[in-house]
Amino acid sequence: MNARLIGLGMIGAGWMGQALLQKFLARADVRLVGLYTPDAGRGREALRVVGQSPDFWTGSLDQLLAKPHLDAVCIVSPNGFHGSQSLAALCAGKHVFCEKPAATKYDEFRQQIEWERTHPHQITMVDYILYFDSFEQRLRQMIADGLFGTVTQIQINYRHPVNITGRKVWKLKADQIGDAIGMAIIHALSVMVFAMQSQAKPCRVFATSQSRSLRGFEVPPIWDIHVEFDNGATGTCLGNIDHGLGYDAYHHVHGTDGALVFDSLADRPSKVRYWSAKQTGSRWVYPLDPNRCDAALLWPPDTSTPDSGDVIHHQTAAAVNHFLDCIQRGQQSPLSFANSALIAEVGWAALMSAMLRRPVDVPLNPAEAKSFFGG
Ligand SMILES: NC(=O)c1ccc[n+]([C@@H]2O[C@H](COP(=O)([O-])OP(=O)(O)OC[C@H]3O[C@@H](n4cnc5c(N)ncnc54)[C@H](O)[C@@H]3O)[C@@H](O)[C@H]2O)c1
Repeated sequence: MNARLIGLGMIGAGWMGQALLQKFLARADVRLVGLYTPDAGRGREALRVVGQSPDFWTGSLDQLLAKPHLDAVCIVSPNGFHGSQSLAALCAGKHVFCEKPAATKYDEFRQQIEWERTHPHQITMVDYILYFDSFEQRLRQMIADGLFGTVTQIQINYRHPVNITGRKVWKLKADQIGDAIGMAIIHALSVMVFAMQSQAKPCRVFATSQSRSLRGFEVPPIWDIHVEFDNGATGTCLGNIDHGLGYDAYHHVHGTDGALVFDSLADRPSKVRYWSAKQTGSRWVYPLDPNRCDAALLWPPDTSTPDSGDVIHHQTAAAVNHFLDCIQRGQQSPLSFANSALIAEVGWAALMSAMLRRPVDVPLNPAEAKSFFGG
């Protein structure tokens, strides 16, 4: 590939932003053009940590977007800014890498999709980072290969107390976090939608939420989300961003010819087990444990799993490389605003369903959703 140099602007550079910036800087085809954070001290400190000049800092988004040689931005600010900042960057003609959630306002989410429809040459990506996890990739392929037959039920949990220490206290505030689904539970929904994509699409959502919060979240932190697929299969997501011990990313995929369980709270060799009429003679095998799996079915020892709270192990390099490769190839990502819209729609539908106390169809009726969410 004849790679051209890509000028990068960062929007936010805290915990996740610094991890991503380091991965961008590791690429020979990227040069940093600027960093926007409202707080000079924090912005300059982040630049120092990644070995860049403090002169890259700017205190205005408009100034960043007006810089010469800026091709792409990476948005890693608090959730409530993602929608407006991505739309400003799109209007300025930039490619956009956006941390999840894509937006906390429904109207901004619609505008992102509409922009992409009319400007397909601008590459966009929502960082549903578990898309790049090697266990999740394997699971998608196993389902596509029919190892479990037709999947009839799939459960994916996200229960993990999100970090609100120090400056991350913004995650408690309704106007900055948006909602608990977009904040984190969306990871489980993205895994569910991508795992099922070879067999079915979500068509209806029923959700309930609980406002009980130990740490002072201004939005309900506990969610039960039930997803119906267009072939009759069902999905369940148990979410909690407030409390728990460890990271519960439990998966149970149940099909007509097999099943897989991923238990993130178990010790590593026991975390994954599956059976398949097609592949294991209908016996349970543990593909991370050489003592309980035939050599031919063992997975590589470096197989990543989705239960690490450490973003460095959350495939940040793969996410950044994917975005840059999409730009270099001029090819839209499966995680673009439009291509990943169904994942966000399941989240919006869950918010509506919990308020209305009834199931909500997806894709949403945009007029109905707009009137529900306002704007
Ligand atoms: N995909 C993942 O696995 C993952 C993991 C962690 C965080 N995230 C996402 O990354 C984003 C940042 O989270 P974090 O944990 O790094 O938070 P953080 O508090 O550590 O960092 C926030 C950064 O945004 C800057 N900021 C504050 N207000 C801003 C504004 N108006 N415009 C631009 N920058 C602003 C701060 O100066 C800071 O640099 C969130 O959207 C979060 O959902 C994603």
